[in-house]
Amino acid sequence: MIERHRVAAFDQLAESAGLRVDVAGHRIALFRLGDDVYAIGDRCSHAEASLAEGEVFDGAVECPRHGSEFDLRTGRSESLPATRPVPTYTVEVEGTDVFVTVESSEGGEA
Ligand code: FES
Repeated sequence: MIERHRVAAFDQLAESAGLRVDVAGHRIALFRLGDDVYAIGDRCSHAEASLAEGEVFDGAVECPRHGSEFDLRTGRSESLPATRPVPTYTVEVEGTDVFVTVESSEGGEA
């Protein structure tokens, strides 16, 4: 089932710093680039690491553990050691509220 959730206030998002949110079983990292907000899977596709804790450069976030870079728009890994993408989520900003659309996992972890 597709669900839309309010996940943050726009003011909570700092330029170039991620914010981790947990929504309907999805662990999501939010990033703000100017007036735009992007949401990708927070869990690195290589090993256990939180991408919300990574540094942002040129529209990509660098995994804090081994340094793979993930494009914030596509979720694609742009450098090794990660080779698989992370999920991306639709984000809408309405006034001061940030909404993310997710597919809910029926009662379990996604
Ligand atoms: S855990 Fe992210 S690159 Fe290894």
